[in-house]
Amino acid sequence: MIPAPIGVEGPGGSPLSEQKAATAPRHGPKMDPSPSVPAPKGKRVAAPPAPPATPAPRPVIRYSRFRDEAELAHLQRLIDGTLSEPYTLYTYRYFVYNWPELCFFARHKERYVGVVVGKVEAYDMGMFQGYIAMLAVDPEYRHQHIGRTLVCKAVAAMVDEDVDVVILETECSNAAALALYESLGFIREQRLFKYYLNGGDAFRLKLGLKADVMEPPSPDYHTEEC
Ligand SMILES: CC(C)(COP(=O)(O)OP(=O)(O)OC[C@H]1O[C@@H](n2cnc3c(N)ncnc32)[C@H](O)[C@@H]1OP(=O)(O)O)[C@@H](O)C(=O)NCCC(=O)NCCS
Repeated sequence: MIPAPIGVEGPGGSPLSEQKAATAPRHGPKMDPSPSVPAPKGKRVAAPPAPPATPAPRPVIRYSRFRDEAELAHLQRLIDGTLSEPYTLYTYRYFVYNWPELCFFARHKERYVGVVVGKVEAYDMGMFQGYIAMLAVDPEYRHQHIGRTLVCKAVAAMVDEDVDVVILETECSNAAALALYESLGFIREQRLFKYYLNGGDAFRLKLGLKADVMEPPSPDYHTEEC
């Protein structure tokens, strides 16, 4: 409620405007109320509240592993359209034919709307390292946890391959990717200066899948703000 302005109360203690209204002739012209005190108006009928907006139904997204060469065009479209680094067809083939079990697509009906690509390699004293090489979600389908689901599927497939640690690089300026990976437990291990062709720095992120492989992050990753 709006408090009455100081100094406009009438002698009876009621607001001045109420008193003026009470003494106004019944059929005469309306009295001009004090400019600082709005005249009381008749009871207004409150407009009925707008019905709550019905949220658009979420599309049903299906996930599948890489199947055949025909899907390469979809992979290329998704990645080339979103990443700053251009890749050749050979790069895509290298990943999907060597590690088809680590390439997942997200599809809405016939449309390919997301992809993750990874690999696994032996790296140290019989340990295995998973690597997430590419991740992209069609801009029209973002913020629906498709990216997160794709990463989870790739990591789960790496767990099946007894991977010890998963790494990846992402641009320091890529807030969406950093937030996504960090929400899944990845930590910033190292900052890689001028890592990309565009001169941008990268963070190397790491997720330990076995308790004994997580080392403290390198201290140099936070030496400079992004
Ligand atoms: C990064 C990317 C894959 C995220 O895909 P997405 O499907 O929209 O992400 P999700 O809906 O799964 O989001 C998961 C979490 O990531 C974070 N996140 C996603 N987009 C974000 C944004 N724009 N800003 C901040 N945080 C974001 C949020 O924490 C989100 O969880 P919440 O929705 O519960 O808050 C997508 O933005 C993309 O394709 N970007 C271009 C390509 C790219 O950068 N790839 C990564 C290279 S390493």
